[in-house]
Amino acid sequence: MRERAAVAFALLLAALGRAQAESAPAALAPARAAELVHLLRHDCGSCHGLFLKGGLGPPLSPSALAGKDPQALVLTVLEGRAGTPMPPWKGLLDEAEARFLVDLLLAGRVP
Ligand code: HEC
Repeated sequence: MRERAAVAFALLLAALGRAQAESAPAALAPARAAELVHLLRHDCGSCHGLFLKGGLGPPLSPSALAGKDPQALVLTVLEGRAGTPMPPWKGLLDEAEARFLVDLLLAGRVP
């Protein structure tokens, strides 16, 4: 019985986590969201390609990112990757903003 309760609780947590992930982009003010999309195309795009299909940096298309842990990708954006040209963005982006960009990339919904 106790095990069943633990499983139910774990499922609830997973569902809550998913709901939170889905609502993350909507939490940003529209003006800031537009700024971030501009940053994604122009700053990120300077390495990853204007259409994010790759250049100096790898492609950031949904198929290229499929199966990667979203939180690990958020960390890559915030911290960069030491020893590679991927710079840290945490001075310019907070975690919710990095998450917003990663969610757009994973969904293939970069406007
Ligand atoms: C100066 C070039 C450069 C810029 C600018 C840059 N990146 Fe990168 N990025 C890279 C490189 C190179 C890698 C691959 C690092 C490696 O070899 O692991 C990378 C890796 C990544 C990854 C991991 C991809 C994967 O398949 O694991 C993500 C996500 C990412 N970048 C997102 C961004 C975002 C979002 C921005 C803008 C906020 C950005 N990058 C700006 C060069 C850049």
